Amino acid sequence: MGKDTVTIINNATGQQVELPLMRGTHGPDVVDIGQLYPKLGIFTYDSGFKSTASCKSGITFIDGEQGVLLYRGYPIEQLAEKSNYLEVCYLLYYGELPTKEQYDHFVGMITRHSMINEGLRHFYSGFHASAHPMSIMVGVVGALSAFYHDSLEIDNPRHQEISAHRLIAKLPTIAAASFKHSIGQPMVYPKNKLPYAANFLNMMFSVPADDYEVNPIHAKAIDLLFILHADHEQNASTSTVRLAGSSEANPFAAISAGIGALWGPAHGGANEAVIKMLEEIKDAAQIPKYVARAKDKADTFRLMGFGHRVYKNYDPRAKIIRKMAYELLATTSGNDPMLEVAMKLEELALKDEYFIQRKLYPNVDFYSGIIYKAMGIPVNMFTVLFAIARTIGWITQWKEMISDEGRVIGRPRQLYTGAAQRDYLAMEKR
Ligand code: CMC
Repeated sequence: MGKDTVTIINNATGQQVELPLMRGTHGPDVVDIGQLYPKLGIFTYDSGFKSTASCKSGITFIDGEQGVLLYRGYPIEQLAEKSNYLEVCYLLYYGELPTKEQYDHFVGMITRHSMINEGLRHFYSGFHASAHPMSIMVGVVGALSAFYHDSLEIDNPRHQEISAHRLIAKLPTIAAASFKHSIGQPMVYPKNKLPYAANFLNMMFSVPADDYEVNPIHAKAIDLLFILHADHEQNASTSTVRLAGSSEANPFAAISAGIGALWGPAHGGANEAVIKMLEEIKDAAQIPKYVARAKDKADTFRLMGFGHRVYKNYDPRAKIIRKMAYELLATTSGNDPMLEVAMKLEELALKDEYFIQRKLYPNVDFYSGIIYKAMGIPVNMFTVLFAIARTIGWITQWKEMISDEGRVIGRPRQLYTGAAQRDYLAMEKR
């Protein structure tokens, strides 16, 4: 028996198979179970992929026990301190930090693609004014594929690249237009002279009738939040993008599917849910009641912004955001009562045996909503901002999946628990 193998024995039949162990750069070894069904005729069952690697990837690494997050090998703390969002986009997509020339060229490409086709703009009038901006995002991003039939060959590297540039460039424009539609204001066109995050804020908050100055502290905070949300390996939305893309659907369709998956409160929708929860708690004196509810298995209430499938330690992104929340709120409203409730909730939960035992720490979404709120971003736009930032992760993971020489359509198997085979019964005999 090889050292780099795992032997599986079917005790019912006595048959056994030796499966190879795969070793990555970091992280646990992975058993290649591809031969399990051909050799033993059995599948594996892993609801929620708790022990299953769905792909090989060289983009992002997380050590959930230690609270480590690396993009292409670089620690998130270093990128947050020294880089900016578009440089991080370059790093994720191309695999290396850019030279000055490469960076300038890339920023120029993204800037030039930030407008959307006027035809696409008319889509907005079809949406009800009360439509959630995420519902508009799912529709409009999917519809982008209707405008680029000339560049949708998924195996053509130039087509892949131009689609990536278009998505990174146009998502802020599409997102801000969703917001403008919901408040009945005219869409604001992108401004090439503004950096990425400042341009987004300008499209969100300026109006044609007035002058508007982007607050540089807000632009910096948005840029940092975008860096922290840029990629997070095989989370639900990224896995959705990979699975949808594995059918060889175009990247706009695959990413639209990813936006849908991001929307739920167990994933990207948590930042919106955190604010709703803090508003409901309202007063620090009420916290013990809500903590008790979160621990009660008969109650469906959970502390939003707490817990993570992979992090069993402080989410490294939450550490960075927590610091930023304090700094930002010091420059704006002073003592925000919501931040006070958040701090107290964090303190109580981290001391509570239930949360300690289950290793439930605040995650990235616990603080991001508080920061967005302080900047005047409406609550229903929080997950949209997550979608803008994650677009680079989705398109990079899509490109890696589509470029894999061993690419196959993603097609899980199942444990069938339905009715056994039976014969059709005529209606009068039922
Ligand atoms: N409040 C109370 N109990 C919790 C919470 C919570 N937020 N999260 C997990 N638990 C409990 C859970 O009930 C279970 O208890 P037990 O072992 O007694 O049955 C235990 O902790 C393990 O939880 P799990 O549900 O098995 O963990 P999971 O990996 O399936 O779920 C999660 C991870 C993020 C969906 C979950 O922690 C959660 O719902 N958190 C709140 C929503 C949230 O903040 N989501 C944002 C995630 S980070 C950003 C992103 O990925 O988009």
